[in-house]
Amino acid sequence: MGIIKTIGILTSGGDAPGMNAAIRSVTRSGICNGFKIKGIYRGYEGLIKGEMKDFTTEDVSGIITRGGTILKTARCAEFMTPEGRKKAFKTCQKERIDALVVIGGNGSLTGARDFGMEFDFPVIGLPGTIDNDLYGTDSTIGYDTTMNTIMECVDRIRDTANSHERIFFVEVMGRDAGFLAQNCAIACGAEAAIVPEETTNVDQLAQFMGRGIRKSKKSCIVIVSESPKCGALYYADRVKKEFPGFDVRVSILGHLQRGGSPSAHDRILASITGAGAIEAIKQGQRNVMVGVRNNEVVYVPFSECIRTDKRFDKRLITVLDELSI
Ligand code: F6P
Repeated sequence: MGIIKTIGILTSGGDAPGMNAAIRSVTRSGICNGFKIKGIYRGYEGLIKGEMKDFTTEDVSGIITRGGTILKTARCAEFMTPEGRKKAFKTCQKERIDALVVIGGNGSLTGARDFGMEFDFPVIGLPGTIDNDLYGTDSTIGYDTTMNTIMECVDRIRDTANSHERIFFVEVMGRDAGFLAQNCAIACGAEAAIVPEETTNVDQLAQFMGRGIRKSKKSCIVIVSESPKCGALYYADRVKKEFPGFDVRVSILGHLQRGGSPSAHDRILASITGAGAIEAIKQGQRNVMVGVRNNEVVYVPFSECIRTDKRFDKRLITVLDELSI
Protein backbone atom coordinates (compact mmCIF):
# COMPACT_ATOMS: atom_id res chain seq x y z
CA MET A 1 0.00 0.00 0.00
CA GLY A 2 1.48 3.31 -1.08
CA ILE A 3 0.92 6.85 0.10
CA ILE A 4 -2.58 7.64 1.42
CA LYS A 5 -4.37 10.39 -0.51
CA THR A 6 -8.06 9.50 -0.30
CA ILE A 7 -9.99 8.38 2.78
CA GLY A 8 -13.44 6.82 2.64
CA ILE A 9 -15.74 7.29 5.62
CA LEU A 10 -18.85 5.31 6.50
CA THR A 11 -21.27 4.69 9.36
CA SER A 12 -22.44 1.15 10.02
CA GLY A 13 -24.78 -0.81 12.32
CA GLY A 14 -27.27 0.92 14.62
CA ASP A 15 -27.12 4.71 14.35
CA ALA A 16 -26.01 6.66 17.41
CA PRO A 17 -26.28 10.34 18.33
CA GLY A 18 -22.89 11.92 17.62
CA MET A 19 -22.18 9.97 14.45
CA ASN A 20 -22.71 13.18 12.46
CA ALA A 21 -20.28 15.05 14.68
CA ALA A 22 -17.75 12.28 13.94
CA ILE A 23 -18.35 12.50 10.17
CA ARG A 24 -17.83 16.26 10.38
CA SER A 25 -14.65 15.87 12.37
CA VAL A 26 -13.07 13.24 10.09
CA THR A 27 -14.01 15.28 7.00
CA ARG A 28 -12.73 18.62 8.22
CA SER A 29 -9.63 17.29 9.95
CA GLY A 30 -8.90 15.17 6.85
CA ILE A 31 -9.23 18.14 4.50
CA CYS A 32 -7.08 20.31 6.79
CA ASN A 33 -4.37 17.66 6.58
CA GLY A 34 -4.43 17.44 2.78
CA PHE A 35 -6.56 14.30 2.28
CA LYS A 36 -9.47 13.87 -0.11
CA ILE A 37 -12.58 12.57 1.70
CA LYS A 38 -15.27 10.37 0.19
CA GLY A 39 -18.52 9.90 2.10
CA ILE A 40 -19.81 6.34 1.58
CA TYR A 41 -23.57 5.80 1.94
CA ARG A 42 -25.39 2.97 3.78
CA GLY A 43 -22.35 1.49 5.49
CA TYR A 44 -20.65 -1.53 3.96
CA GLU A 45 -23.59 -1.97 1.58
CA GLY A 46 -22.69 1.33 -0.09
CA LEU A 47 -19.04 0.33 -0.13
CA ILE A 48 -19.90 -2.86 -2.00
CA LYS A 49 -22.15 -1.01 -4.45
CA GLY A 50 -19.94 2.05 -4.84
CA GLU A 51 -22.45 4.60 -3.46
CA MET A 52 -20.38 7.61 -2.47
CA LYS A 53 -19.74 11.31 -2.86
CA ASP A 54 -16.66 13.52 -2.64
CA PHE A 55 -17.08 15.46 0.59
CA THR A 56 -16.24 19.13 1.01
CA THR A 57 -16.29 21.07 4.27
CA GLU A 58 -19.77 22.37 3.27
CA ASP A 59 -21.16 18.82 3.08
CA VAL A 60 -20.75 18.55 6.85
CA SER A 61 -22.02 22.03 7.75
CA GLY A 62 -24.70 22.28 10.41
CA ILE A 63 -24.70 18.56 11.25
CA ILE A 64 -22.98 18.61 14.65
CA THR A 65 -26.36 19.23 16.29
CA ARG A 66 -28.19 16.43 14.49
CA GLY A 67 -28.86 12.85 15.62
CA GLY A 68 -28.75 9.89 13.22
CA THR A 69 -26.24 9.86 10.39
CA ILE A 70 -26.27 11.86 7.16
CA LEU A 71 -24.41 8.95 5.53
CA LYS A 72 -27.27 6.56 6.42
CA THR A 73 -26.42 3.21 7.91
CA ALA A 74 -27.12 -0.49 7.45
CA ARG A 75 -26.33 -3.90 8.83
CA CYS A 76 -24.81 -5.60 5.78
CA ALA A 77 -24.96 -9.40 5.69
CA GLU A 78 -22.97 -9.56 2.43
CA PHE A 79 -19.96 -7.88 4.04
CA MET A 80 -19.82 -10.74 6.54
CA THR A 81 -18.80 -13.04 3.66
CA PRO A 82 -15.33 -13.12 2.01
CA GLU A 83 -17.03 -12.56 -1.39
CA GLY A 84 -18.77 -9.43 -0.11
CA ARG A 85 -15.55 -8.04 1.32
CA LYS A 86 -13.79 -8.75 -1.99
CA LYS A 87 -16.40 -6.67 -3.81
CA ALA A 88 -15.84 -3.88 -1.30
CA PHE A 89 -12.09 -4.03 -1.90
CA LYS A 90 -12.68 -3.76 -5.65
CA THR A 91 -14.73 -0.60 -5.06
CA CYS A 92 -11.84 0.86 -3.05
CA GLN A 93 -9.46 0.13 -5.92
CA LYS A 94 -11.85 1.58 -8.51
CA GLU A 95 -12.55 4.73 -6.48
CA ARG A 96 -8.90 5.06 -5.46
CA ILE A 97 -9.75 4.91 -1.76
CA ASP A 98 -6.50 4.30 0.15
CA ALA A 99 -7.88 4.06 3.71
CA LEU A 100 -11.23 3.72 5.46
CA VAL A 101 -12.68 5.25 8.61
CA VAL A 102 -15.53 3.12 9.98
CA ILE A 103 -17.87 4.54 12.63
CA GLY A 104 -19.85 1.79 14.32
CA GLY A 105 -20.18 -0.76 17.09
CA ASN A 106 -18.99 -4.27 17.76
CA GLY A 107 -20.24 -5.94 14.56
CA SER A 108 -19.05 -3.09 12.33
CA LEU A 109 -15.56 -3.08 13.81
CA THR A 110 -15.39 -6.88 13.51
CA GLY A 111 -16.06 -6.42 9.77
CA ALA A 112 -13.44 -3.65 9.68
CA ARG A 113 -10.87 -5.97 11.28
CA ASP A 114 -11.55 -8.79 8.80
CA PHE A 115 -11.40 -6.43 5.81
CA GLY A 116 -8.19 -4.77 6.99
CA MET A 117 -6.48 -8.12 7.58
CA GLU A 118 -7.63 -9.83 4.37
CA PHE A 119 -6.52 -7.04 2.04
CA ASP A 120 -3.74 -5.48 4.11
CA PHE A 121 -5.83 -2.31 3.96
CA PRO A 122 -5.60 0.58 6.47
CA VAL A 123 -8.83 0.84 8.44
CA ILE A 124 -9.42 3.07 11.46
CA GLY A 125 -12.50 2.62 13.66
CA LEU A 126 -14.47 5.09 15.75
CA PRO A 127 -16.65 3.73 18.60
CA GLY A 128 -20.18 4.63 17.45
CA THR A 129 -22.83 2.80 19.46
CA ILE A 130 -25.30 3.60 22.22
CA ASP A 131 -24.48 0.28 23.92
CA ASN A 132 -21.03 1.31 25.28
CA ASP A 133 -19.86 -2.27 24.77
CA LEU A 134 -16.50 -1.60 23.11
CA TYR A 135 -13.43 -2.43 25.13
CA GLY A 136 -10.64 0.16 25.45
CA THR A 137 -12.64 3.39 25.49
CA ASP A 138 -14.32 4.85 28.57
CA SER A 139 -17.46 5.55 26.61
CA THR A 140 -18.74 5.22 23.07
CA ILE A 141 -20.23 7.93 20.85
CA GLY A 142 -23.98 8.00 21.54
CA TYR A 143 -23.95 6.39 24.98
CA ASP A 144 -24.15 9.62 26.98
CA THR A 145 -26.97 11.08 24.88
CA THR A 146 -28.96 7.86 25.18
CA MET A 147 -28.50 7.79 28.94
CA ASN A 148 -29.90 11.32 29.12
CA THR A 149 -32.83 10.41 26.87
CA ILE A 150 -33.66 7.38 29.01
CA MET A 151 -33.37 9.49 32.16
CA GLU A 152 -35.87 12.04 30.84
CA CYS A 153 -38.32 9.28 29.88
CA VAL A 154 -38.05 7.52 33.23
CA ASP A 155 -38.50 10.79 35.12
CA ARG A 156 -41.84 11.11 33.35
CA ILE A 157 -42.76 7.50 34.04
CA ARG A 158 -41.96 8.11 37.70
CA ASP A 159 -44.73 10.75 37.89
CA THR A 160 -47.41 8.36 36.75
CA ALA A 161 -45.95 5.43 38.69
CA ASN A 162 -46.16 7.48 41.88
CA SER A 163 -49.67 8.70 41.17
CA HIS A 164 -51.04 5.20 40.60
CA GLU A 165 -48.74 3.46 43.08
CA ARG A 166 -47.47 0.97 40.50
CA ILE A 167 -44.38 -1.08 39.77
CA PHE A 168 -42.99 -0.18 36.36
CA PHE A 169 -40.61 -2.39 34.42
CA VAL A 170 -38.88 -0.10 31.94
CA GLU A 171 -36.96 -1.89 29.19
CA VAL A 172 -33.91 -0.20 27.69
CA MET A 173 -31.55 -1.15 24.85
CA GLY A 174 -27.97 -2.37 25.19
CA ARG A 175 -27.97 -5.61 23.20
CA ASP A 176 -25.94 -7.98 25.43
CA ALA A 177 -24.57 -5.28 27.72
CA GLY A 178 -26.08 -3.76 30.86
CA PHE A 179 -24.24 -0.42 30.90
CA LEU A 180 -27.29 1.59 29.84
CA ALA A 181 -29.61 -0.18 32.29
CA GLN A 182 -27.33 -0.05 35.31
CA ASN A 183 -26.16 3.55 34.96
CA CYS A 184 -29.59 4.85 33.99
CA ALA A 185 -31.06 3.13 37.05
CA ILE A 186 -28.64 5.12 39.20
CA ALA A 187 -29.34 8.36 37.32
CA CYS A 188 -33.12 7.91 37.64
CA GLY A 189 -33.12 6.85 41.27
CA ALA A 190 -34.69 3.56 40.19
CA GLU A 191 -35.29 0.86 42.76
CA ALA A 192 -33.49 -1.85 40.78
CA ALA A 193 -31.80 -2.80 37.53
CA ILE A 194 -31.85 -6.18 35.84
CA VAL A 195 -28.77 -6.62 33.67
CA PRO A 196 -27.43 -9.47 31.49
CA GLU A 197 -24.09 -9.49 33.32
CA GLU A 198 -25.93 -10.85 36.38
CA THR A 199 -28.79 -12.81 34.83
CA THR A 200 -26.99 -16.15 34.75
CA ASN A 201 -25.63 -15.83 38.30
CA VAL A 202 -28.68 -14.85 40.31
CA ASP A 203 -32.43 -14.40 40.05
CA GLN A 204 -32.34 -10.61 40.14
CA LEU A 205 -36.11 -10.28 40.47
CA ALA A 206 -36.30 -12.65 43.43
CA GLN A 207 -33.39 -10.81 45.00
CA PHE A 208 -35.08 -7.44 44.57
CA MET A 209 -38.51 -8.56 45.76
CA GLY A 210 -36.83 -10.44 48.59
CA ARG A 211 -35.29 -7.23 49.85
CA GLY A 212 -38.83 -5.96 50.26
CA ILE A 213 -40.22 -2.72 48.97
CA ARG A 214 -40.21 -0.10 51.69
CA LYS A 215 -43.72 0.36 53.15
CA SER A 216 -43.70 4.09 52.48
CA LYS A 217 -42.77 3.39 48.86
CA LYS A 218 -45.90 2.38 47.06
CA SER A 219 -44.41 2.65 43.59
CA CYS A 220 -41.14 1.61 42.07
CA ILE A 221 -39.16 1.57 38.87
CA VAL A 222 -37.10 -1.36 37.69
CA ILE A 223 -34.88 -0.80 34.64
CA VAL A 224 -34.50 -3.99 32.60
CA SER A 225 -31.94 -4.62 29.85
CA GLU A 226 -33.51 -5.83 26.65
CA SER A 227 -33.34 -9.57 26.12
CA PRO A 228 -35.16 -11.88 23.71
CA LYS A 229 -36.46 -14.05 26.54
CA CYS A 230 -36.08 -12.14 29.80
CA GLY A 231 -37.12 -8.59 29.00
CA ALA A 232 -39.50 -6.31 30.90
CA LEU A 233 -42.60 -8.32 29.88
CA TYR A 234 -41.12 -11.50 31.32
CA TYR A 235 -40.44 -9.91 34.71
CA ALA A 236 -43.80 -8.14 34.81
CA ASP A 237 -45.55 -11.46 34.16
CA ARG A 238 -43.59 -13.08 36.92
CA VAL A 239 -44.54 -10.39 39.43
CA LYS A 240 -48.20 -10.74 38.45
CA LYS A 241 -48.02 -14.47 39.13
CA GLU A 242 -45.63 -14.62 42.07
CA PHE A 243 -46.59 -11.37 43.86
CA PRO A 244 -50.23 -10.79 42.93
CA GLY A 245 -50.70 -7.85 45.30
CA PHE A 246 -48.85 -5.43 43.01
CA ASP A 247 -50.19 -3.28 40.20
CA VAL A 248 -47.66 -3.77 37.40
CA ARG A 249 -47.01 -1.95 34.12
CA VAL A 250 -44.39 -2.22 31.38
CA SER A 251 -42.80 0.45 29.25
CA ILE A 252 -40.46 -0.56 26.41
CA LEU A 253 -38.60 2.57 25.34
CA GLY A 254 -37.46 1.16 21.99
CA HIS A 255 -35.92 3.23 19.23
CA LEU A 256 -36.71 6.62 20.72
CA GLN A 257 -33.52 5.93 22.73
CA ARG A 258 -31.39 6.16 19.59
CA GLY A 259 -32.65 9.51 18.29
CA GLY A 260 -32.12 13.12 19.24
CA SER A 261 -29.51 15.83 19.25
CA PRO A 262 -26.22 14.59 20.73
CA SER A 263 -25.12 15.74 24.19
CA ALA A 264 -22.06 17.98 24.63
CA HIS A 265 -20.12 14.92 25.84
CA ASP A 266 -20.88 12.94 22.67
CA ARG A 267 -20.14 15.88 20.36
CA ILE A 268 -16.77 16.38 22.01
CA LEU A 269 -15.94 12.65 22.05
CA ALA A 270 -16.88 12.38 18.36
CA SER A 271 -14.86 15.47 17.45
CA ILE A 272 -11.76 14.33 19.34
CA THR A 273 -11.81 10.75 18.08
CA GLY A 274 -12.58 11.89 14.51
CA ALA A 275 -9.49 14.09 14.49
CA GLY A 276 -7.66 11.19 16.19
CA ALA A 277 -8.54 8.95 13.23
CA ILE A 278 -6.81 11.34 10.81
CA GLU A 279 -3.81 11.56 13.15
CA ALA A 280 -3.68 7.73 13.22
CA ILE A 281 -3.62 7.61 9.41
CA LYS A 282 -0.83 10.20 9.31
CA GLN A 283 1.17 8.10 11.77
CA GLY A 284 0.75 5.02 9.58
CA GLN A 285 -1.46 3.20 12.09
CA ARG A 286 -4.00 0.67 10.85
CA ASN A 287 -6.62 -1.68 12.24
CA VAL A 288 -7.12 0.28 15.42
CA MET A 289 -10.11 1.95 17.05
CA VAL A 290 -9.66 5.47 18.38
CA GLY A 291 -10.97 5.76 21.93
CA VAL A 292 -10.64 8.07 24.91
CA ARG A 293 -9.44 6.61 28.19
CA ASN A 294 -8.80 8.75 31.27
CA ASN A 295 -9.09 11.88 29.09
CA GLU A 296 -6.43 10.69 26.69
CA VAL A 297 -6.81 9.61 23.08
CA VAL A 298 -5.86 5.95 22.74
CA TYR A 299 -5.48 3.59 19.78
CA VAL A 300 -6.86 0.14 20.53
CA PRO A 301 -6.25 -2.81 18.15
CA PHE A 302 -9.56 -4.07 16.69
CA SER A 303 -9.00 -7.55 18.12
CA GLU A 304 -8.96 -6.00 21.61
CA CYS A 305 -11.85 -3.56 21.34
CA ILE A 306 -14.34 -6.17 20.09
CA ARG A 307 -13.70 -8.46 23.07
CA THR A 308 -16.97 -9.35 24.72
CA ASP A 309 -15.87 -8.82 28.28
CA LYS A 310 -15.75 -5.03 28.66
CA ARG A 311 -15.56 -4.63 32.41
CA PHE A 312 -18.91 -4.13 34.05
CA ASP A 313 -18.29 -2.39 37.35
CA LYS A 314 -20.06 -4.56 39.92
CA ARG A 315 -19.74 -1.78 42.49
CA LEU A 316 -22.52 0.01 40.61
CA ILE A 317 -24.89 -2.76 41.67
CA THR A 318 -24.04 -2.13 45.33
CA VAL A 319 -24.42 1.63 44.88
CA LEU A 320 -27.87 1.21 43.38
CA ASP A 321 -28.92 -1.28 46.08
CA GLU A 322 -27.79 1.04 48.85
CA LEU A 323 -29.37 4.15 47.40
CA SER A 324 -32.73 2.58 46.71
CA ILE A 325 -33.61 1.69 50.32
O1 F6P B 1 -26.49 -1.77 18.87
C1 F6P B 1 -27.38 -0.72 19.01
C2 F6P B 1 -28.79 -1.20 19.22
O2 F6P B 1 -29.62 -0.08 19.41
C3 F6P B 1 -28.96 -2.20 20.35
O3 F6P B 1 -29.00 -1.59 21.61
C4 F6P B 1 -30.24 -2.88 19.95
O4 F6P B 1 -30.29 -4.19 20.47
C5 F6P B 1 -30.16 -2.90 18.46
O5 F6P B 1 -29.25 -1.89 18.07
C6 F6P B 1 -31.47 -2.68 17.75
O6 F6P B 1 -31.25 -2.80 16.39
P1 F6P B 1 -32.32 -2.46 15.25
O7 F6P B 1 -32.34 -0.97 15.09
O8 F6P B 1 -31.79 -3.15 14.05
O9 F6P B 1 -33.64 -2.96 15.73
